[in-house]
Amino acid sequence: MNSREDHSRLIVDNPQWDAGRAAAESMEFLRDVVDGLSRRAKSLSCKHFYDAEGSRLFERIMRMPEYYPTRCETEILRAFRGDILSLMDGLPFNLVDLGAGDAAKTRILLEHFHRRGALLSYVPVDVSGDALARMAASVREELPGLTVHPLADEYFPALDRLNGSVPGRKLVLFLGSTIGNFEKREAAAFLKGLRDSLEPDDALLIGFDLRKEPGRVLRAYDDASGLTARFNLNLLERINRELEADFDPDGFVHHAVYDPEEGVARSYLVSRREQAVRIRKAGLTLVIGAWESIHTENAFKYAPEEIRRLAEAAGFVESAVFQDREGLFQDSFLTFSR
Ligand code: AVI
Repeated sequence: MNSREDHSRLIVDNPQWDAGRAAAESMEFLRDVVDGLSRRAKSLSCKHFYDAEGSRLFERIMRMPEYYPTRCETEILRAFRGDILSLMDGLPFNLVDLGAGDAAKTRILLEHFHRRGALLSYVPVDVSGDALARMAASVREELPGLTVHPLADEYFPALDRLNGSVPGRKLVLFLGSTIGNFEKREAAAFLKGLRDSLEPDDALLIGFDLRKEPGRVLRAYDDASGLTARFNLNLLERINRELEADFDPDGFVHHAVYDPEEGVARSYLVSRREQAVRIRKAGLTLVIGAWESIHTENAFKYAPEEIRRLAEAAGFVESAVFQDREGLFQDSFLTFSR
């Protein structure tokens, strides 16, 4: 059997996979919410921000003036796409995009690489099959002749499937400083996992938000228009919608702090008063005290030296680093140590 045809059948347009995934995700959501809100120091995981409404709000956050990471990374990809291509040594490769979303930034690379005949295929990976299929259709329309293999899956299973079925080298993208939302230990394990899932001639281009003036970071996570506050509060609205709860979002304030020692922006939802919240699907009522907080997100900022150490500890070599002109953001090009 032709391996490429075989591979393309593993992909999107698989409603059963999507339905199974949705069921598993909603079980996980229920479990995480109950677990996080039953603790003494209450927390909710930032991975649950991204329902349809949360994803829409995040797209708006990426366009707002205070949120510099998207602008900076766009500048980097525009300025250095030629250098990134040269680092791939002139041999054609598959561009694998982990957490592709709408591929807004990836299109900068795609267009450049495709025009130069450098791509074997584009493989966007995302858990949301619907969004992925829409994006794949628009990329195919924009770049005729480009082979697009969307993979609706988690990152590591997707990479495993690719290794077995798609011939050729890979440049894997993990853009947007999502690694900053992992605890340091998780970030190290994630990079090691990526290293183990890649093959020796593959490379990884990964985005990190850099340490900088604290006020600049804080404004990105607590903007004047209140969009980030709505994004944070949407988590409570999602619990209301999906778990039949009765959170009063007006009873909470969004609060962000930046800790320059650890280099982390932390976000909270703080209760304005003592309140009882019924979560019907979990069969429980929760009492939250006046000014008690729920921790919702960490966004770690890295020094260039920390990135290099993290990459090396995972078995990578940082072959090149690309920064925007202001030095706010960095994309690191990682290869295998030989
Ligand atoms: C997805 N992630 C990289 C964003 C960040 O900057 O940590 C999520 C975000 N949270 C608030 N604003 C943006």
